[in-house]
Amino acid sequence: MRSRRDGLIGQEPPAQADRRARAEAAKTQGHATTADARADTRGWLPAISPGTVPRGMRGDIWSFDPPARARAEEEPLAELVEEALLARTLPNGGELVDVTAGQGTIARVARRHGVHSRSGDLEPGAPFVHRADARTLLTDPPPGIAAGCADLLVVHPPSYPLWVKIAGGYDGVEAYHDALGVLIAGPLGVVRPDGTVVMITRPVRERGAVSIATSYLADALALSGVTLAAYVLAVAPATSQDWHLLNGRVPQ
Ligand SMILES: C[S@@+](CC[C@H](N)C(=O)[O-])C[C@H]1O[C@@H](n2cnc3c(N)ncnc32)[C@H](O)[C@@H]1O
Repeated sequence: MRSRRDGLIGQEPPAQADRRARAEAAKTQGHATTADARADTRGWLPAISPGTVPRGMRGDIWSFDPPARARAEEEPLAELVEEALLARTLPNGGELVDVTAGQGTIARVARRHGVHSRSGDLEPGAPFVHRADARTLLTDPPPGIAAGCADLLVVHPPSYPLWVKIAGGYDGVEAYHDALGVLIAGPLGVVRPDGTVVMITRPVRERGAVSIATSYLADALALSGVTLAAYVLAVAPATSQDWHLLNGRVPQ
């Protein structure tokens, strides 16, 4: 049963729903599924070698067109944003852990650019995404996950409206901020010293007020000893969609 207080906790879907999700992923993303299924037994989604260099948008304001086929509840990042994120944070041969991977879109882009990845999600949307709770990633680690195993950790939680929907009702902005704090504290230890953590959020806009989750999270990162190395705003002007990327460097 979903916990209304925690909001981000989800019941493991029944095996049947899981099979349906995998079949759906296989239909829509056929190009990657055979290799992905193999990768599932190995853990990491291996990089395609030699990888190409990802395209990176310059500066700290990025512009993108939202993914056309995505359902609202998936909230995927645009490929252009993922490429720019990788170009900014990871060398060829780097290792990525994405703890809120959804359909695994970042991993699919990463492998083209010579990056190995491990993807987890409470509700995996692709065969190679492991069912794992980000909050307990290091206390109950899936195979291959250990302290210091990643050059880059990505945390991209549900936006506030979706979180409220998942939680089953209004739970308040502060509860959302707290949930985000736990979501980043749980897996932070997978980042190797001098590695990078990227947290991706949107501001909360409701009831005539705006709450900038990013500033709360910047404080939370600073308290964990993480240096804020960059703050990027990725916008899709046609839709007013905005993603705020906090890019932190873990101390050596
Ligand atoms: C915004 S979506 C991520 C989209 C993904 N980055 C992409 O580009 O396709 C947020 C994801 O966080 C997952 N999630 C929420 N709470 C979680 C938790 N405690 N542990 C792991 N995943 C969680 C949701 O299931 C959802 O797939």
